Amino acid sequence: MTISREQMLHEMGLSPQWKLRDNPSVLRGAESMLVDEPVEASPVTPVQMPQVQVKRALVAGTAERPEQIAGMSWDELQQSVEDCRACRLCEERQQAVLGVGERSADWLFVGEGPGPEEDVRGEPFVGPAGKLLDAMLAAIGLKRGEDVYIANAVKCHPPGNHAPEAAEILACTPYLKRQIALLQPKVIVLLGRAAVHALLGSEGLLGSLRGKPFEYRDGERSIPVVVTYHPAYLLRTLPDKAKAWEDLCRARALMREARASGLANAENVSI
Ligand code: URA
Repeated sequence: MTISREQMLHEMGLSPQWKLRDNPSVLRGAESMLVDEPVEASPVTPVQMPQVQVKRALVAGTAERPEQIAGMSWDELQQSVEDCRACRLCEERQQAVLGVGERSADWLFVGEGPGPEEDVRGEPFVGPAGKLLDAMLAAIGLKRGEDVYIANAVKCHPPGNHAPEAAEILACTPYLKRQIALLQPKVIVLLGRAAVHALLGSEGLLGSLRGKPFEYRDGERSIPVVVTYHPAYLLRTLPDKAKAWEDLCRARALMREARASGLANAENVSI
């Protein structure tokens, strides 16, 4: 049986529905916002490690670790994340969750960290927040696994669902950066504070960051970044869904621009 997108969203109790429609003011706004506005990195507070972790933590903190990760293939990355003991999140995880989706996707969505269901199933965003994320993707014509890759700022479930701490994010960020280098996405959407902290280095309030233009530098490439609310937050705060919708429309406009400039560059090369 096939059901329409409206029916699907209705079944999931996601009202008001996410509708795909061009909003000229949002798209115009996005075009005029393509100015890089870097945010300041904040100092990082180290966590207290139990005795047995100290040696590993020192190894994890060596200058070589990010470099080693930066040279890994997808398979090596998967293995390294499974074996990772770089922070205390490894102690209670059932499994590390690297990400899901096409490894050549144009879209990258980054969340916070696996919840309890993700910890069991080994896939990001499969719980209630994941259902909303799927609806958000559908609203802009996207589908999990099809030109979309979904990752998290930290790859292991934070016990008690605590917000990942600065040191936990810091330990995991080389993995996220390597994922980006391998994927080469055209647009990155950061869902919530942990993702923003990991990639932009800012610990500011989400409300003060969303709507602003950011870019992530991966070597020579500069990738547009859209900051928006985490789906779990949106489930608790329905009025902010409208703002998240604006953010998604902006992301869609940025993707169109990126694809158009990619085509233009390809034409220039062939001339
Ligand atoms: N929340 C996240 O940020 N990521 C998940 O994978 C699940 C819930």
